[in-house]
Amino acid sequence: MQIHTTIESLRAARAAAGKVAFVPTMGNLHEGHITLMRQAGERADAVIASIFVNRLQFGPREDFDKYPRTLAADCERLEAAGVAHLFAPDETVMYPTPQQYHVDPAPAHVSILEGEFRAGHFRGVATVVLKLLNIVQPDIALFGKKDYQQLMVLSNMVREFALPVEVLPGETVRAPDGLALSSRNGYLSAAERAEAPRLYRQLTAIRDAVLAGDRDFLKLETMAVAELAAHGWRPDYVTVRRRADLQPPAHGDAAPLVVLAAAKLGTTRLIDNLEI
Ligand code: PAJ
Repeated sequence: MQIHTTIESLRAARAAAGKVAFVPTMGNLHEGHITLMRQAGERADAVIASIFVNRLQFGPREDFDKYPRTLAADCERLEAAGVAHLFAPDETVMYPTPQQYHVDPAPAHVSILEGEFRAGHFRGVATVVLKLLNIVQPDIALFGKKDYQQLMVLSNMVREFALPVEVLPGETVRAPDGLALSSRNGYLSAAERAEAPRLYRQLTAIRDAVLAGDRDFLKLETMAVAELAAHGWRPDYVTVRRRADLQPPAHGDAAPLVVLAAAKLGTTRLIDNLEI
């Protein structure tokens, strides 16, 4: 695997790489990321990954400074997964001067859910992903369903700006007990890690109830929030939404659904979702 820290070096490699599938990440790679790399490898001549902890998408009180940076271990995993090129710029390459032009995603898409609790987050994500797509110019870009709203925002950005890239979603990879893999799981204490799968269990309970014909979403959501709170969580939301735009389903709406949740356990904020 070649490691590129400049745009020029990455671009030269990309020009010789044929059909390229791109997987952007912030590093501290786990099996969820690596599954995206493997999926990418099946669709293209070469996989390009990126690792860049993007300051623009972190709020002032969020974990930018303590976000785990594990480049050496990440490189080993990427190499083993058959990734051809890693773009690992530092901030002086990505933001040589403070970024003054930004992508503002549709307000309807970012005033809700994560956007409600993380002001400016998706603006930072969309801005860096547009920049990365322009640098790498891949044929395909892969994003995980673990970050469902991020996938929705980026798919819409690509479509509305007619970016010449195909967006492919990857399924959420979970630990055997159901907890969705996440770099932030490393912040959990042993006791919190044992408690953490409750979030996924609440999502499966809601999915199963809806599949069994229960359409009283508010009751199901309220029960899940109460159950989490009773076990020490501080839930931000548990909510059933339409998959396509993440808006609440109208009465009698037959649109495909997804249930999404975010909750704090101790100082760690976890998110998860499950298609219904
Ligand atoms: P990061 O959190 O590192 O995630 C990189 C990619 O891996 C994202 O597409 C994310 O959805 C996916 N991913 C994370 N956990 C996963 C899991 N358990 N199963 C499947 N896929 C998973 O998301 C970001 O970085 C950043 O916002 C980024 C898009 C790189 C822009 O900075």
